[in-house]
Amino acid sequence: MHPALIAIFSLIGAYLFWWLVGLRIMRKLHPRPIPWRWARFINNPLRRRAQNPSKTLGQMGFREGMRVLELGPGWGFLTLEAARRVGDSGRLYCLDIEPALIARLKQKTAKVGLENVALVMGNGECLPFASDSIDLAFLVAVLGEIPDKDAALKELNRVLCPGGVLSISELLPDPDYPLRRTTIAWARKAGFEPFQEFGNFFAYTVNFRKG
Ligand SMILES: C[S@@+](CC[C@H](N)C(=O)[O-])C[C@H]1O[C@@H](n2cnc3c(N)ncnc32)[C@H](O)[C@@H]1O
Repeated sequence: MHPALIAIFSLIGAYLFWWLVGLRIMRKLHPRPIPWRWARFINNPLRRRAQNPSKTLGQMGFREGMRVLELGPGWGFLTLEAARRVGDSGRLYCLDIEPALIARLKQKTAKVGLENVALVMGNGECLPFASDSIDLAFLVAVLGEIPDKDAALKELNRVLCPGGVLSISELLPDPDYPLRRTTIAWARKAGFEPFQEFGNFFAYTVNFRKG
């Protein structure tokens, strides 16, 4: 083989190895939010095919009038559609740790005139909501980034009303992707019971009820 081709394949191999193995190990050891500018790149057509926002939200059990919490909305991959699903009589609370992302979401929701969305800057490990005040909470590609998952899940359990639903979705290319069984074990530890599962190894959603 031509040396130039060998060099190109080696570079591609090294990059893939870094993305699939190195980065994952590093982020598992030190979970943290992704740099906020990266959130833009996960909002792309390829992802829309693998984890269609409408289909993903459709698996969560939205109803009009619900009080819904989106933890870690990022660039708003699901936010506008989620706000439409709760309707004028419902409320969508979006909480993100990154102020720049909250500012961008504010522009985005104002542009389309959504008035049923409350944008909150905060840490999922300590939620600024009253106990039993939320009907449905959802996290898409977020849990793996939170250092104290147990604290975040216990907070979600506290703010959900009796019978409330926690929905967690994950997608494999995300370097923070946890296996479905890991997600279920984390949630069980915080008092949730899974009652619905969708998708496959590559992209999944699990719905839990507050125990
Ligand atoms: C990979 S992005 C996913 C964004 C969006 N859910 C999506 O599917 O496109 C993860 C988001 O979670 C937020 N996040 C990470 N750790 C957080 C924490 N402890 N509390 C609140 N938000 C957090 C990040 O700032 C980022 O916006």
